[in-house]
Amino acid sequence: MAAATQVETVNITVNDVELTVPKGEIVVESVKRLGLEIPIFCYHPRMKPVGMCRMCLVEVGFKQPDGSVRKMPKPQAACTLPASEGMAIYTDTEMVHRDRKGVLEFLLINHPLDCPICDRGGECPLQNNTLFYGPSTSRFVEMKRHLPKAFPLSKYVTLDLERCIQCGRCVRFTEEISGDAQLAFRFRGATMQPSTFEMTDFDSKFSGNVIEICPVGALTNAKYRFRARPWDLETRPAICTVCSNGCNIWMDHRLGNVARINGRTNEAINEEWTCDRGKFGHAFYNDKRLLKPLVRRDGQLKETDWAEAYSDVIRAFNAGGSTIAALGGARNSNEDLFMLKRLFTEQFKSPNLDHRFQNFLPSIADWSELRLDQRTIESYELAPTALVFGTSLADEEPILYLRLRKAWFNHGTKVVSAHHEPTDVDSFAQVILRYQEGTGSVLAMGLANALGTKGYEKFTAEVVEKETGVSKARFDEAVAVLKSQPTPVITTRGIFNSGSGISTALALHSLNGSFSLYGLQANDEGAARLGFLPGEGGRNSHEILQGCIDGSVKALWLVGVDPFVEHADQELVERALESVEFLVVQAAEENGAYPFASVVLPMTLPAEADGSYTNLEGRVQRMKQVIPTKGEAKPAWRVYTELGLRLKPEAPMFNAGEVFAHLVAEHPGFAV
Ligand code: SF4
Ligand code: SF4
Ligand code: FES
Repeated sequence: MAAATQVETVNITVNDVELTVPKGEIVVESVKRLGLEIPIFCYHPRMKPVGMCRMCLVEVGFKQPDGSVRKMPKPQAACTLPASEGMAIYTDTEMVHRDRKGVLEFLLINHPLDCPICDRGGECPLQNNTLFYGPSTSRFVEMKRHLPKAFPLSKYVTLDLERCIQCGRCVRFTEEISGDAQLAFRFRGATMQPSTFEMTDFDSKFSGNVIEICPVGALTNAKYRFRARPWDLETRPAICTVCSNGCNIWMDHRLGNVARINGRTNEAINEEWTCDRGKFGHAFYNDKRLLKPLVRRDGQLKETDWAEAYSDVIRAFNAGGSTIAALGGARNSNEDLFMLKRLFTEQFKSPNLDHRFQNFLPSIADWSELRLDQRTIESYELAPTALVFGTSLADEEPILYLRLRKAWFNHGTKVVSAHHEPTDVDSFAQVILRYQEGTGSVLAMGLANALGTKGYEKFTAEVVEKETGVSKARFDEAVAVLKSQPTPVITTRGIFNSGSGISTALALHSLNGSFSLYGLQANDEGAARLGFLPGEGGRNSHEILQGCIDGSVKALWLVGVDPFVEHADQELVERALESVEFLVVQAAEENGAYPFASVVLPMTLPAEADGSYTNLEGRVQRMKQVIPTKGEAKPAWRVYTELGLRLKPEAPMFNAGEVFAHLVAEHPGFAV
């Protein structure tokens, strides 16, 4: 067991209350320990303090040997002040009240006070601080400055310069957290303005976060602007299901439509951040939806009731065995996949299940070997080294990317970045291994050889240089980093889109560190852990589609998946869907497979039903229903339990909680 770290502490007083805090802790944080608050604007606990706004002024003194307190003559910014022995902090004195009023009066000189038409109105720290700590009137009658309003920084972020209080949070976010350094201050003094360099687009994968951390309405959400006021919205905790990271979010909805997504704090996953794909990527909830079951009659899809749709499905699938198959999208909940697998294996006796759509799928034996464990996002924070191989992490696993960058920024993690093209990780990598496209497996096998794995002896540094284009010097540099300690290896299932992906993964897996093969979709990991995979003698997704073409698969069930989107071989998909005798499309909206359907079953989307999702690290998170279901759509698990009851009398399952309990009984690792 690791030895507990000794934290040096100091004794301070806050408003004469004695307190012991870690030495050097920022006073703004120490004061929170007593449940007190110091108003702030520029300070953000996840960024370095800069002391720009002066909102956090407090009186500070030091205990003298005679027990008296000698105060400093001037107020101090609590956000830049480290706690030290004998410090006496006063947050509630006449001087502090006067200073806060002064700072707010000063900030409001030029602030346009257009709260009634400002998107931040009702949830604005400037409004709140002014209300709690500000002056009731202003002495300024002069004309305020006028600057461009509603300037589009990007398609997502709109800047209202008049409202900016020059706190620097947005600029610091792009420097310290996202690392793209897209924003900077132009000009100086009262004219200082946050801007992109040379007024280009704010081109960031994480730009939406600056909207949330801006303490005024200067940065607003271009997609949400003027759509609602905060008090019109219902805000519920939810999980983002746009990728596999499983970020915790607040979902704001209004009149049944998703209005806005904000980050929700979960220190183990996203801290408080989101990526733009997630923050602005939930419009699919508001798209045109499938509202009623449909069956094909005389060549046309016709609206029907669930009973008739179920009869058609049972007729087609009851033959069971190898002649039927199901492909499940990895955005389905654990409950959906568990119940579908149960229906297929127990009732229909079919082993043909899969949720993987990459171009080259490992055999089940290789798959089981590769997927032993996935390292947690949080664990990278203190990792001394890491190897990122064959993935553009900021695109595929955005929040994991932020955590790895944080590890480098705060602790100097040495990262080796290997990819055939430039990626965002390169910006902080210690060593970049740029291999020629298609030669990743040679590089991986070269690394395995250099680190002592048997069986790869012929992949010397010279061979690697010749075949991949990575110079021997660069290769040796990387090996030195990887040899210095057991290094976590990060790659994703995207690696299987390349023909050599399987051998690459096996070689990386043999390196002397933890190997994580992360999923890409919201519940890829859940599907894998539930074994939503070909059973004994079963077919994988490619073989299932091929079986549809050659007639050996007669009925196919697509659950929350559009193979035209997921599968690279569009021709194979089209021929399969055209050829298969019976096709069930269970989906939330009309997708590419819809025109080929024999039966269409309308399905809820993740936030429209209770359900659980397993993120890339294997963390199971349960989500309560956030928004109402649309039309007659049902959660997929309910359809399977209703069908199961028609096939065999058994105890019904009435809610997702019951399904989850059964799931945990069979798969104890899912317990939360
Ligand atoms: Fe601060 Fe907002 Fe101005 Fe950026 S735009 S400096 S976050 S007030
Ligand atoms: Fe959503 Fe993934 Fe982005 Fe998180 S990282 S906000 S889960 S898309
Ligand atoms: Fe301390 Fe801004 S919050 S100076």
